[in-house]
Amino acid sequence: MPESKYKFETITNHLITSGFMYPSSQIYGGISNTWDYGPLGANMKTHLKEVWRRHFVLEKMNIFLIDPAIIMNPKTWEATGHVANFSDPLIDCKYCHTRYRADDLIKKQHPELDVDNMTKDEMNKLVEEEKLSCPNCGKSTFTPIRQFQLMFKTSIGVTEDKASLVYLRPETAQGIFVNFKNVQRTQRAKLPFGICDIGKAFRNEITPGNFTFRTREFEQMEIEFFTKPDQDLEYFNYWKKECLDFVERIGLRKDYLRYRDHEPNELAFYSKATTDIEYYFPSLGWGELMGIASRTNYDLSRHMEYSKEDLTYLDPETNQRYIPHVIEPSFGLDRLLLALLCDSYDEENLGNDTRIVMHLNKHLAPYQIAIFPLSNKLANQAQEEVYKLLCKNFELIFDTTGSIGKRYRRQDAIGTPYCITYDFDSVNDNSVTIRERDSMQQTRVKISELKDYLTKLFEE
Ligand code: GAP
Repeated sequence: MPESKYKFETITNHLITSGFMYPSSQIYGGISNTWDYGPLGANMKTHLKEVWRRHFVLEKMNIFLIDPAIIMNPKTWEATGHVANFSDPLIDCKYCHTRYRADDLIKKQHPELDVDNMTKDEMNKLVEEEKLSCPNCGKSTFTPIRQFQLMFKTSIGVTEDKASLVYLRPETAQGIFVNFKNVQRTQRAKLPFGICDIGKAFRNEITPGNFTFRTREFEQMEIEFFTKPDQDLEYFNYWKKECLDFVERIGLRKDYLRYRDHEPNELAFYSKATTDIEYYFPSLGWGELMGIASRTNYDLSRHMEYSKEDLTYLDPETNQRYIPHVIEPSFGLDRLLLALLCDSYDEENLGNDTRIVMHLNKHLAPYQIAIFPLSNKLANQAQEEVYKLLCKNFELIFDTTGSIGKRYRRQDAIGTPYCITYDFDSVNDNSVTIRERDSMQQTRVKISELKDYLTKLFEE
């Protein structure tokens, strides 16, 4: 087991106080387990999406990015089985009113049981016969289990009747499947190829929590990679490696990552194989970051059945027509971000001082470079000569308050990789000091060479 040096709560408090995330609608007392991304978190999210797009779209030759709508024709969710089956078994303690997922409660107290394959009646019987106890108050008095629909319902149009019932998508993936034919035709795509998207998904989770780990509104980055039917397992292994490469590329420590292959009894009946990539979160332990699933031709077949549209593919090499199989790498953006923030947090003892430093990947940090005029008297020159020179190529923050030492600490604590100080000598020698976050080393660089110098640093 890797060891976490810091508590989850210490890190999340730091994230809130420094402006990565805030409790949502805080002035109204917040809303349960909902978070807003502040300037630092929003910047990082944008960067993470960009690095993901670079890795999975720009550096590949056969993946197309689309941006489908959140509200889809509700028949979509009948076809996928979400209307019938996307629900959690909910149970309440009658004594203290704490709410649980019944399957989680049973799993924790009886890990030897195969809860995923139990019916609601079987779970009810077990809760009663085994006298399961409430982890909060210790009493054994539970309500009967109720199935709880996880999709948020809303309505379109002027009347709130059944005809206008729609859902907020619980996953972004289905916007890809319903566009399979559109993309394949318009882009003249040949198998194997992928379609991906990045966007919000919504689930009325019973037990949201652990900061942004499980929320009701979150972002996914999903790929559906379509293959010939007999090539799906080959590509499953390919995507397993690609996804691990990606999470390592963005800087997560290798020994805090692992694959978790799903057992045969965990797999959906149509799935040939599924693997999660997990990260070891401080205080929480192993948690799923993303999943890679071989989904055979289930989704396209169901959409064919419900829409009556032909979603088959005519193979130009063999002239055979078939429904492609699919491998689905599905990332949770918020979890990935949370893992990165936990992974990079450090408190370094510097003898008579401690600094909080986020050792973030320099392409993901909220800002790339901070610019400090040593004195307010130098602010205009620093702005004219340095900020204006760099602002089109780099993401900058301009800070004029406090001593330079304090300004370094502030930037270390939010992960800014480089700080540039414009001092009184800069006026005469046309040079500035660049200070690197991790080593704290300082280098004097001519302003005329600054852009090239920094460009090289960010090419690494
Ligand atoms: N299309 C497949 C799919 O949606 P999933 O395992 O339910 O699969 C994929 O979700 C990823 O989305 C998860 O690995 C996780 O990172 C993220 N995710 C799912 N539910 C979430 C929630 N309530 N809050 C935050 N992230 C969530």
